[in-house]
Formats: sequence, C-alpha cells, structure tokens
Amino acid sequence: MPSALKDSQASATQRFSHALSLVPEIAKVEERIRSTFTSDVAIMREIPEYLLSLGGKRIRPILALLCSKALGAQEITDDIIDIAAGIELIHMATLMHDDIIDQSPIRRHKPSAYARYGLPGTLLSGDFLLTRAFGLCSRLDREIIEATEQACIELVEGETLEIAIPLAEQTTASSLTIATRKTASLFRLAAFCGASLTESPDSVKESMSKFGEALGIAFQIIDDILDVTSDEATLGKRPGIDIAERKPSLINILWIESGDPAAQRLLVPADPKTEQSFVEESLQKLRASEILQRAKDSAKFHADIASKNLIDALGGDLHNLPPEGEALIAVIDFALERVL
Ligand code: FPP
Ligand code: MG
Repeated sequence: MPSALKDSQASATQRFSHALSLVPEIAKVEERIRSTFTSDVAIMREIPEYLLSLGGKRIRPILALLCSKALGAQEITDDIIDIAAGIELIHMATLMHDDIIDQSPIRRHKPSAYARYGLPGTLLSGDFLLTRAFGLCSRLDREIIEATEQACIELVEGETLEIAIPLAEQTTASSLTIATRKTASLFRLAAFCGASLTESPDSVKESMSKFGEALGIAFQIIDDILDVTSDEATLGKRPGIDIAERKPSLINILWIESGDPAAQRLLVPADPKTEQSFVEESLQKLRASEILQRAKDSAKFHADIASKNLIDALGGDLHNLPPEGEALIAVIDFALERVL
C-alpha cells in the first residue's frame, strides 16, 4: 500500500477505494455472475439482469477475493471466481425473496424486482439464481459445498426467526442471532472460502470464519443504525422502515428494553391515521438518544472481534500484514465510519 494510504490521516473511504484496487478480478466475478443468466425463458434472464444492474457494493465477493490474496493466493483461480460469483448469486436470491416477504417497493434507489415484475417472477428468479449458485459451487471441494449449504440454511433460519418470533418476545440476544444467521452467514462463508481455496490450515480457516461472521454482524447493526440516522438519498429507500415494519432490529429492541413508554407503540397494531407521524417522531427521538450510542458501541464491539480474528488468521502481527490484510482492515473501518 502506498505509504500515504497507510497514514492514519487517510480516511477509511480512501483506504476502502485502495482496497478495491487490489482486487480488479471483481470484474471477472461480475462476468461469471452474468454468464449464469442463461435460459430460453426470457424473463429468467431479464429479472436477474435487472437486479444486477441496480448495483451494490459486492462486498461478499470482494471479501472472498481479498481473503484468498491475503492468505497468499498467487493468482485468482477459476475456483475463487466461481465461489465469489456463487456467493453473490445467493445474496441476490435472498434479496429477491426478502423483497417479496417485506413487500418492499424500493431496492437500491429503484423499484424492487418484486415491484417491477410481480411476485411469481421474482420468487422464481430467486429460485433460478440459487440453483445457478449451487451449479457453480458444486464443482468445488466438498467442504465448500457443505459450508455453502450451511450458510443457506442459516439465511433461511434467520429470516424465519425474524418473522416468526413476535416483537414482544425478541431480545437483544435473539436480535443478534437473527443478524448472525440472516447476514453474517454469507460473510463468514466468503472469508472461509478464501481460506479453504488457499489450502490454509484448519486454525486459519476458523479464524477467517470468525472474522467474516463478526464483520457481518457489525454490518447488520450498522444497517440498523443507518435506517435511523441516514436519509433517502443515501439509503436508496425511506429511513424508518425498521420502525414501520416493527422489525427486531437492535435499535428497536434496545428502545423497547429501555422502558420508554413511546416504544410500546411498536408492540401494538399500527394505526394508519397516526403511523406516519409515529415513525417521524420516533426517528427524531432515536437520533438524539443514548440507544443509538449503545448500538454504535455494539457495532464497534463486533468490528473489534473481526479485526482480532483477521490478524490471528494472518499471523498475529497487526504491523506486519500483507497489503490485502491492510485492505480487509480498511473494509472494517469503512463500515464503521458510516455510523461513528
Ligand atoms: C435483507 O435484510 C435480507 C437478508 C439479509 C436475508 C434474507 C433471507 C431470505 C429471504 C431467506 C432466503 C434464502 C435463500 C438461500 C434464497 P434486511 O431486510 O434487514 O435488509 P434490506 O433493507 O436490504 O431489505
Ligand atoms: Mg428487507
């Protein structure tokens, strides 16, 4: 890394941009993803293409590429491209299904696939992408196939727990379990695959997996915070959706557990006449509250676990990391900088 970027004065955003420059192979991952959109049923090409065109950070494939390079991969092999593409395809499938479940009109500043193409096409496109993902990863080692299966099961379990447990029965522990399963499972898989494909020892695979999982939990908490603190132009959707949808986000749970009588309204059916003002007043109150700070502390706590495990996986010395290891630290800092 150029010394200017090692400087602590360089912002996390600059260091994150530098991190991206270390994995130009992300363009190949994008091509590999697109190469799976083949079908003689036109809509099965069109809907995945639409979701891909909405963009996104591609953070999961970037993690897989950076982890494998940090662990010494001399070249990015077809196997690494396949699994990085497969993980993003799974992520895309979950977004399609999640937008149906949440009946979300917007994703990434544009109409969601659900809003544009309707439920049946979006549901079936999610099935199509998930099947394509397993097509790619089935060419790889058994431990990668099993880890991918496990991550998908956890995604489904996390989404189910979010819906099935009434908000009144959710706790900070259950909220973190949901974040671990619905979000961190794919981050963990990406980091694990980077280690598995470089034939790293089990202890390194384990540390990399813990790094990915902790980073994923921090990401979900940061997402929950941004739902309160951010604006529509930045988020690509209205803020306050977690309040409106009575989600077991860490913020909502901390608010209920704080004993604030205003939070009790999260536990009763919404009154359409006053719902909009409830969401707006709640956002104003939460933005100035200690609850926000507690959520930020929790994001930082998990980000620190991520850093510790990453450093362990890369030999234990923060001051002697490979450039891609520095880049992974920049990914953690970049995520945190969005909220701290
Ligand atoms: C988005 O979270 C949703 C997820 C991270 C997971 C969704 C998982 C499923 C729908 C299970 C289906 C599983 C497979 C394998 C296809 P969010 O609702 O908090 O964030 P958002 O604001 O992006 O919607
Ligand atoms: Mg959602």
